[in-house]
Amino acid sequence: MKSTILIAQTYGPAQVLEFYTQELPPLATGMARIQVKYAGINPIDARRMTGEFRHGAMPQTFGTEFAGTIVDIHPGTVWAIGDEVLGSGGAFTHATVIDVPVGNLVARPQNIDWAIAGTIAGVAQTAMTILDEIGEVKSLLIHGASGGVGSITIQLAKERGINVVATASEKNQDYLKSLGAVAVPYGPGLVDRLKAVHPQPFDASVDMSGTEEATQASLLTVKPSGIISSIAGKPVSSSRVKAIWVKRNPSNLKYVVDGIASGKFSWEVDQVFSFKDAAKAYSYILEGHTKGKNALAFDE
Ligand SMILES: NC(=O)c1ccc[n+]([C@@H]2O[C@H](COP(=O)([O-])OP(=O)(O)OC[C@H]3O[C@@H](n4cnc5c(N)ncnc54)[C@H](OP(=O)(O)O)[C@@H]3O)[C@@H](O)[C@H]2O)c1
Repeated sequence: MKSTILIAQTYGPAQVLEFYTQELPPLATGMARIQVKYAGINPIDARRMTGEFRHGAMPQTFGTEFAGTIVDIHPGTVWAIGDEVLGSGGAFTHATVIDVPVGNLVARPQNIDWAIAGTIAGVAQTAMTILDEIGEVKSLLIHGASGGVGSITIQLAKERGINVVATASEKNQDYLKSLGAVAVPYGPGLVDRLKAVHPQPFDASVDMSGTEEATQASLLTVKPSGIISSIAGKPVSSSRVKAIWVKRNPSNLKYVVDGIASGKFSWEVDQVFSFKDAAKAYSYILEGHTKGKNALAFDE
């Protein structure tokens, strides 16, 4: 069976992306072969393409999550050919056919749209990691919360009874409110606006924007014993900022998937790009203003 894979042989803008078609080797033990239908695109994909993050050898492959159909699997698992699944990989899901460890698979609930199924694995597990690492808090400030990670973190935090104040641009204020947050626009005067809606110091903050403005605002609004954290993976000016990195955990993913299937959590796909237009998708992601998530659609 052949797979067409998105690769980059050099770091740079989206023009470095290429497609490469190869014959797949026989399926290894413990893996499932998936025909991908949709795959989420995350900032990490585009940041690895530009060379901001440099892991592993060239050529690079991309994509951390997917939804699709099992087309090959060894006997002895709960899965069968034809099963519809979603899950996370590790920088290889932007390809037409992928081999994924069986332990990474979660069944796609029939009432979850394919595009939604393909875009939740990375952010769901990131959001659960954030809340686990922050621990029990009553109030949480989230910087840059209208994107993929923020959209689900707000809802998971509200479910835990946390009072969430979240920032985004003016155009996304109503979206933040619809997710359950008190919405505040970022930009000059941010600290005053935060204090106006939440006069008491926050128990914790998490930055998803990676801006100095967010760091300074957290330092001025989080209580001295509180946690100031960032997932942005960018240099920070204060040693108080704790870096949080996603921990993969399929049961955390299943928790969010079940919540979307039951209607407890809402999930929005911003734009769907055809796989052949991956370069356009990556350029769009680099602009940093995704609402919810973006998806790549794979034609049969
Ligand atoms: N550490 C980890 O394990 C981990 C895991 C996942 C993601 N990440 C990183 O976390 C970051 C967020 O990921 P994501 O998928 O949520 O990104 P995203 O979907 O691109 O969302 C970006 C968010 O940042 C906001 N934003 C843009 N400019 C801003 C500014 N100047 N000040 C404040 N907010 C601003 C956007 O709001 P507007 O559109 O309204 O401007 C949007 O809400 C990325 O850097 C990603 O690489 C890290």
